[in-house]
Amino acid sequence: MFNLEKEIRPLMSNYRYNHTLSVVSECKNLAELFGIDGEKLIASAYLHDITKEMPTDSQLLLCEKMGIEIDKDTLNSPKTLHSFTAPALIMSDFPQYADKEILSAVRYHTTGRANMTLTEKLLYLADYIEPTRKFDECKRLREYFYADTCDIQKRLNDTIVLSLKYTISELLEKKEFIHSQTLECYNSLIKRIGD
Ligand SMILES: [Fe+2]
Repeated sequence: MFNLEKEIRPLMSNYRYNHTLSVVSECKNLAELFGIDGEKLIASAYLHDITKEMPTDSQLLLCEKMGIEIDKDTLNSPKTLHSFTAPALIMSDFPQYADKEILSAVRYHTTGRANMTLTEKLLYLADYIEPTRKFDECKRLREYFYADTCDIQKRLNDTIVLSLKYTISELLEKKEFIHSQTLECYNSLIKRIGD
């Protein structure tokens, strides 16, 4: 883990690096709160934004080189591209971390998806609420999540639903494309009837 802290450093600005370290620290707290080992969650936190500052052309080239086809929703939603391309860079440059749990947490940390695993949910949440985030929504979400942790699983789901409300409202407001995985994530968390 100590190596990852150094290895990711050249891939990002000071701002992004500080954010990443804050997501790592949030994930450590969440792992303790949820009583899980957290090793893979923490690795995914270090790696989640490794392509965020890579030029779009280079990200597209990376996927081509790795033989990965980018879906149309992701292409229509540029803010989500880095979460699609980071797993490709993990597979190519950090193969020791190319583990299913780590790759899927990184892959869905921006859009969410239907029926998320606990590791996916915790990285998604940590990325949204880590304390260096200055947006009002992020602060409100952090307060909401930690205000009542009696039924922690329910609180986690309710917090993600609230985050999706903020995200989807903002996208509607700006008339931007909504990734289908974001809508599927929302629907899977509020549905009353199971699969
Ligand atoms: Fe992030």
